[in-house]
Amino acid sequence: MEIDGRTKICGLIGNPVEHTLSPMIHNTLAGRMGHNLVYVPFPVEQGRVAEAVAGADALGVLGLNVTVPYKSEVIAALKETDALARRIGAVNTLVRAAGGYKGYNTDMEGLYRAMAGEGIPIEGEQIILLGAGGAARAVAHLCAVKGAQKVYMLNRTLNRAQTVAEEVNRAAGREIVCPMCMEDYGRIPEGKYLAVQGTSVGLAPHNEDVVISDAAFYEKVHTGFDLIYSPWETKFMRLVKEHGGKAFNGLKMLLYQGIIAYELWNEVQVSEADAEAVYGKLREHFR
Ligand code: ATR
Repeated sequence: MEIDGRTKICGLIGNPVEHTLSPMIHNTLAGRMGHNLVYVPFPVEQGRVAEAVAGADALGVLGLNVTVPYKSEVIAALKETDALARRIGAVNTLVRAAGGYKGYNTDMEGLYRAMAGEGIPIEGEQIILLGAGGAARAVAHLCAVKGAQKVYMLNRTLNRAQTVAEEVNRAAGREIVCPMCMEDYGRIPEGKYLAVQGTSVGLAPHNEDVVISDAAFYEKVHTGFDLIYSPWETKFMRLVKEHGGKAFNGLKMLLYQGIIAYELWNEVQVSEADAEAVYGKLREHFR
C-alpha cells in the first residue's frame, strides 16, 4: 500500500507493545480489503494515557486499540463507553467520533464470536470458569450478559472469586455466578459442562502447568476453551481431549477482537474469507 495524503491511521496504545500481533491483523485486513489505512503500535508512558488519547484525537487518528496496563485507566479519557465495556470496566477499542472517542470491549465480543463460530453457545448453558483475575472477570460478565444459566467460578483464592461473583450478580440482578475454591470442583453438580480456562496457568514457557489435573474434573467437561494461545495446545486442552471433549485455544478470540475493532473503525463487515486469511497468518506465527 502506498501511503499518501488520505491514509488513515489506527494503532495500539499500551506498555509494552513490542510483541503485539495487532499490526499483522489490521494491516492484512487493510491490504485485502483495499483500504488506505495503516496500523502502528504506540508505546505510552505511565501516567500519559489521557494525553495520548487527546493527542490522537487532535491528529485525527481513526481508531485505537488499548492494551495492558491501560484498559481501565483509559475510560476516564473517553467521551462515551459502550454498555458491555462499561459493565466490565475495561476497554480495548476506541472509535473516533465528534468530540472524542467511544470505547468498546471487543475482547469479550471477540470471544463470543469465536465461540459462536465453533458452535459453542453461552445462552442457557451451565459453565465452569477457571480463574477470577481480569480476564476471567470479563468472561463472567460476558456469560451474564449473554444469558448463561449458571457459572461455577473456580479460583485458587476464594475471596477473589467471591468479590467478582458479587459484582457480576449485582449487575445481572440474579445469582448467576457461584464462587468456589479451585479444589472444590467435586461439588459441581453432575453433568457435562463448557469449561473456560481463564487463569494464566499453562502460558508458555510453563506449558506443562495446569490448574486441575484430576481426571474426575475432565469427566465433567464436554468442551474446553482456553483463553491462552501460546502454546498452541495447553495441558488443559490436552486433558479435555484425552477425556473425550473438544478443546479450543484463544487465537480465534484474538482474531475476532481485531476483526470487530476493524469493523467498528471502517463501518464494514469483514468476510469469512478475509477472516480466514488473517487467521492463517496468525497460525503461521505460532508454527
Ligand atoms: P489476567 O488479567 O490474565 O486475568 P490476573 O488478573 O493476574 O491476570 O489473574 C490471574 C489468574 O490466574 C487468577 O485467577 C489467579 O488466581 P488467584 O486469584 O488465586 O491469584 C490465577 N493463577 C495464577 N497463577 C496461579 C497458580 N499458580 N495456580 C492457580 N491459579 C493461578
